[in-house]
Amino acid sequence: MIGCAILGYGTVGSGVYNVIRSNCGLVNERAGDDIEVRRVLDLREFPGDPVESILTHDFEDIVNDPEVRIVVEVMGGLKPAFDFTKRCLEAGKNVCTSNKELVAEHGLELMRIARQNDVNYFFEASCGGGIPIIRALNDCLTADCVDEITGILNGTTNYILTQMTDEGADFDDVLKQAQEMGFAERDPSADIDAFDPARKIAILASIAFGSSVDYRDVYTEGIRDISAEDIQYAATLGYAVKLLASAVKSDDGVRAWVAPMLISPDHPLYSINGVMNAVYVHGNMLGDAVFTGAGAGSLPTASAVVADVIDAARHGGKRAYCGWKKDEKLTLASNEDIKRKFLVRIKTEDVGNATSVFAPEGFLDTITIGDLDDEVAFITPDLSEKDFEERANTFGKIVSRIRIG
Ligand code: HSE
Repeated sequence: MIGCAILGYGTVGSGVYNVIRSNCGLVNERAGDDIEVRRVLDLREFPGDPVESILTHDFEDIVNDPEVRIVVEVMGGLKPAFDFTKRCLEAGKNVCTSNKELVAEHGLELMRIARQNDVNYFFEASCGGGIPIIRALNDCLTADCVDEITGILNGTTNYILTQMTDEGADFDDVLKQAQEMGFAERDPSADIDAFDPARKIAILASIAFGSSVDYRDVYTEGIRDISAEDIQYAATLGYAVKLLASAVKSDDGVRAWVAPMLISPDHPLYSINGVMNAVYVHGNMLGDAVFTGAGAGSLPTASAVVADVIDAARHGGKRAYCGWKKDEKLTLASNEDIKRKFLVRIKTEDVGNATSVFAPEGFLDTITIGDLDDEVAFITPDLSEKDFEERANTFGKIVSRIRIG
């Protein structure tokens, strides 16, 4: 029997309990022993719930229980999750988590503490929900030098962009739906301002490239300014708007960014819709690979957490390999010289000025969207980020601009 405890009985915590209970036969068989949930920590009461009899409000009941060998931390946030995780690891308990905030902030330190105590700190569910991308990077793509990871790593924003595209729905209404369906963060800004996918791409890049990427160094632009009109322009031109998170390695370093991008049907992530996430990986031997699955939600996320519980049970006192191991920060290269095209919307009266500043091949003035007949759009030639920024400042009156991926 392997005792387990769950810290936090919210969307993911209740999912973890459900997965362990619903699939108990195969979970136990694959873990090589019976997994028993002995304790669930939450400040709330759950009268009539199956966990009522094992519910505790006191973390000490868990950390001091020698029978608890695996702790699932699904509280989210840094406090008290960081302290609780440290204390569990120091007490010789494995910890499995979906807490991307904590992993992005203190992952390396927590893995070090785990190592010192001959246990594991696993965080598969912190990136891409149910998609086994961390295990793929650590255990499967080990013969490759990975040089690009590009993902749709936030289910809420992908759901919002898909609904806005398919239903012509309003941003605020769709966000509310996503929150009701349990995908969105309590503070929606982590999703829509894209700190959440920035943390996730920082975690994946740290694993793929070995040293810690600080998510605060990742250029991050969310979807708050994407309008229904932008999406209609994109659709008319055959593009989808997706919030992409990328980390790309070249000879002069690693670059990383999160931003809404226009992608065409031949892009591997074009048809990833709704709450689905997907991660495109390029390896120097493998070439292209795409991993896709549900990126948020109770059971998909819990599925990844419980897979970690099984892995922790299988590893016993042995430590698992993780590519993120160098005790140093990875300084990202500047994005200024990345070259790409941009879709730019302007007022019709500014066409002359735009022609001299951006030299586009032509203007898309045949698109009449709603009452936007006083504007036109154009696609720039390939421009570096720096060059585009300078021209945009000179021009001054852009209605909106989106990068083309
Ligand atoms: N809010 C996150 C998302 C949850 O929408 O992807 C999963 O990390």
